[in-house]
Amino acid sequence: MQNETLRQELTPVGLADFTPRIDPSATGYQEGTLLDKYGRRISYVRLSITDRCDFRCTYCMAEEMTFLPREAVMSLEECLRVASVFVGLGVTKLRITGGEPLVRKDAMWLIERLGALPGLENLVLTTNGSQLDRFAVPLRAAGVKRINISLDTLNPERFRKITRIGDLTKVLRGIEAARQAGFRRTKLNAVMMRGTNDDEFVDLVSFAINNELDISFIEEMPLGEIHGRSNTYISSEETREMLSRHFELIPSTEDSGGPARYWRIPGSESRVGFISPHSHNFCDSCNRVRITAKGELYPCLGQNDAANLLPALRASNDDVALRQAIIDSMGIKPYGHDFTQQMDTPQVVRFMSMTGG
Ligand code: 5AD
Ligand code: SF4
Repeated sequence: MQNETLRQELTPVGLADFTPRIDPSATGYQEGTLLDKYGRRISYVRLSITDRCDFRCTYCMAEEMTFLPREAVMSLEECLRVASVFVGLGVTKLRITGGEPLVRKDAMWLIERLGALPGLENLVLTTNGSQLDRFAVPLRAAGVKRINISLDTLNPERFRKITRIGDLTKVLRGIEAARQAGFRRTKLNAVMMRGTNDDEFVDLVSFAINNELDISFIEEMPLGEIHGRSNTYISSEETREMLSRHFELIPSTEDSGGPARYWRIPGSESRVGFISPHSHNFCDSCNRVRITAKGELYPCLGQNDAANLLPALRASNDDVALRQAIIDSMGIKPYGHDFTQQMDTPQVVRFMSMTGG
């Protein structure tokens, strides 16, 4: 709701004719809100609490990944400080990501404290679901509002192939555990890969409908050095056309404040979304920044520029320097990403597990 209001305020024009207003004097923090130099209000932070994961999804990681040494990663106390400062600067939505956030030791310690932050309206989590059967109840009790779960296939062998080591049964148990814990409108995220899972999109939507879930199809993004993507790339448009032969898809005016566009299916509560970094430009209404597990602030998923918050974080225990570093970082948020359809050359050199989806 709040995003919707903001969107109207910030983008009175249509997507195509958005003219960036560059105003360095208004950049930073004003009247309870973080503002970038294009006048966009930053109200949403995605915080990665680990670069580690118990899966090795082929589109996300190389087979042999080198993970960050422990000292390079923010402590949970540091994660909490970063989140609290953002909330103090007007951020109302926080997504916990990874890697896989629930493999971080004592992740619940942090999540419980985040859930209790005054001013934080919307605490959400992105997970691969592998640990959800254990964590669904405590996550709900901690005040997590919604969960996104990655699920690209319903076939156990394929699942093993895509994730290299994952066990589909555990994830399905996790999805059920989330429902039993009281989570509603849990969202599945499926990365579209030609020749790998494109024959299952209808089944995935049916699964979502039968389990009262939402589902988003994601165009594969060129993050990190992984070859052979252009052969497997499928656009949202193509998938939507294919799905509309099986389901009646009604465009939804709803807006998550993010890059997804949603469709509804009559007779079902489920929403079908498409995340299209290639074919649609949603940068004009971007309201978010990402924080990596090592304390870098990435103002845009599609750009390599980052501000390192760690020196300010470790300079002192009061949050004065950290607060200023966050305000200053607003100046480096670019107008937009520059993914192209040249999928084999990573335009962004880091992996998704670094920045968090
Ligand atoms: N392109 C698109 N989606 C990706 N994810 C991870 N790597 C990529 C990529 N290269 C997705 C995961 C998960 C979300 C966090 O990001 O499937 O759903
Ligand atoms: Fe892990 Fe998610 Fe990356 Fe798969 S996509 S390896 S589950 S972080």
